Amino acid sequence: MKQFSTISDLRYFLASGHKKGVSVGFVPTMGALHEGHLTLIRRSKAENNLTVCSIFVNPIQFNNPEDLEKYPRTLSRDAKLLEENGCDVLFAPDNAEMYPPEKKEPFGLEFGMLDKVMEGKFRPGHFKGVAIVVKKLINIVQPTRAYFGKKDFQQLTIIQNMVHQLALPVIIVPCETVREKDGLAMSSRNMRLTIAEREIAPTIYQILCKAKEKTGKLPVRELKEWAIKKIQENHLMRVEYFEIGDKETLMPLETWNFKNRAVAFTAVFLGDVRLIDNIELFS
Ligand code: PAJ
Repeated sequence: MKQFSTISDLRYFLASGHKKGVSVGFVPTMGALHEGHLTLIRRSKAENNLTVCSIFVNPIQFNNPEDLEKYPRTLSRDAKLLEENGCDVLFAPDNAEMYPPEKKEPFGLEFGMLDKVMEGKFRPGHFKGVAIVVKKLINIVQPTRAYFGKKDFQQLTIIQNMVHQLALPVIIVPCETVREKDGLAMSSRNMRLTIAEREIAPTIYQILCKAKEKTGKLPVRELKEWAIKKIQENHLMRVEYFEIGDKETLMPLETWNFKNRAVAFTAVFLGDVRLIDNIELFS
């Protein structure tokens, strides 16, 4: 596997492949890789001639400085995992490479309500930061396909919206959420859970599954209240939001008239670790 830390070196390496019409699959990440990320890598490998993974803990998408500071950084372990999973290229730039200090980021994208609800409401500016870095990385790599997990459903929706708005020449490939055996969605943040927190964390997905069974059987508002109460029965967990929204507009649903478009989303604090998860209620 080749590893680059500068944009120019990566571009130089990719140029000949681009010229020959080689298909390039791209998996942007922030590192601390787990099976969720590696599933995306393997899928990209199966569908493209060349697979590029980026590892960059993007400072401008963190609205909480402590979260940024505590974000796990395990580059040499990650590089080994990527190599073992057949990744061809790792791009791991530093902050100065991605954000030259003398230059201001020009960016005029508007996402309407997409980045105002749920994650957008509780993490102001987060999705602007995600959009800027993903756009920049896509410009650098110029991939044929880019792979994103449904674990971050709202992020995936916003990126699809950006690609559509800007007519970026890339196919966005949504990938299913990869879970631990007990149902907990894999996340780089899971490693920060205490033993007690880790033990109860799968409750989040269990309640999402039960909410799916109850879809259409009680009013939307009552289902949301039920889910919040049920999660918080465990005193180690605090629900930041539990929302039922439209799969494309993400707007909260008030009735089941469009239940074939409904997705349940939640963000839950266990101590100071914030976990998100979602389930498609219609499938
Ligand atoms: P990160 O959290 O490292 O995730 C990188 C990619 O892996 C995202 O597309 C995410 O949805 C996917 N992913 C994470 N956990 C997953 C799981 N359990 N199952 C399936 N896919 C999973 O998301 C980011 O980084 C950043 O915001 C980024 C897009 C790289 C921009 O900085």
